[in-house]
Amino acid sequence: MNNILYFDDGGTMPQLGLGTWKSKPGEVYDAVREAIRVGYRHIDCAHLYGNEAEIGQALKDAMNEEGIKREALWITSKLWNNAHHPKNVKPALRVTLENLRLDYLDLYLMHWPVAQQEDSIFPENAMDLISLEKLPLTETWSAMEECVDNGLTRYIGVSNFSAHKLSLILEEGRMKPVMNQIELHPYLQQSALLNFCKENHIHVTAYSPLGSVDRPAIMKAKNEPLLLEDPVIKTIAKQHHASPAQILIAWALHLGVAVVPKSVNPQRIRQNFESSKLVLSESEMEEITGLDLHRRYLDGNIWAIPGSGYTLENLWDE
Ligand code: A2P
Repeated sequence: MNNILYFDDGGTMPQLGLGTWKSKPGEVYDAVREAIRVGYRHIDCAHLYGNEAEIGQALKDAMNEEGIKREALWITSKLWNNAHHPKNVKPALRVTLENLRLDYLDLYLMHWPVAQQEDSIFPENAMDLISLEKLPLTETWSAMEECVDNGLTRYIGVSNFSAHKLSLILEEGRMKPVMNQIELHPYLQQSALLNFCKENHIHVTAYSPLGSVDRPAIMKAKNEPLLLEDPVIKTIAKQHHASPAQILIAWALHLGVAVVPKSVNPQRIRQNFESSKLVLSESEMEEITGLDLHRRYLDGNIWAIPGSGYTLENLWDE
């Protein structure tokens, strides 16, 4: 395993990246600097995370002080739902580039298959959402394609897309999405979606690979199972003299997907990076396959507002 993903055009992407969702301003600068020192070359960002300006400062300082070349880094960001209208896509990407202090992104993703009004950050009622009939994903996608034409991003992709929604883009788009970033961990293994992506040469990035225990309480269910406490994961970790988090990351790497564990703690940033050295046996991988609960930690409930046309069924197409 060399922990590199290859695209059809020969481009490459580091499989293991630093996640920055929930990394607070005031914390994320040091986290990104430490990650780059440790060896991470892939940073996963999004406009919504509200911390891109601080990440931009960290990237700039790392490039200046450590002689890291822009081409050596892989920077992903994401278009927020309130900028799906084609006229808003390029301006949104420009804001992200300005915040990140970059001339181009490596990968720009549509964050959710959900469209919101321009003035809505999170929908409070049905009026804040725009139905996909009115503002189809394929229209937003055309504007994403123009961002590639204009050299603002090398690649484009999507996040939280079902196989059905990927098919719409594959059928109608001029360019193919090279990535689908989805929640993926042993409790949500998404094997059918993974197979679909593999058949169509679409790479997958696993988000919330450690179960995102630090997400807001409102997004948590009572008594939810904790991945980092799973007895099977803990036993395998013990056998490898590793931590449960390292086993979860190694599992994703063995699946052949990109993975973006978030941490703002220097020891854990390093520990997570070292997961790439772990080799799991076939039987350990099988044991972990047995843990699937089809359990979403991020169930998308926030978009399923009655009267909006969005439901959990049509969000996930399941
Ligand atoms: P912290 O940032 O303090 O390290 P996810 O990537 O699934 O969103 O999970 C992120 C959560 O997991 C954060 O609470 C993060 O805390 C924690 N975390 C990150 N790395 C580790 C690790 N190696 N061991 C335990 N918890 C970790």
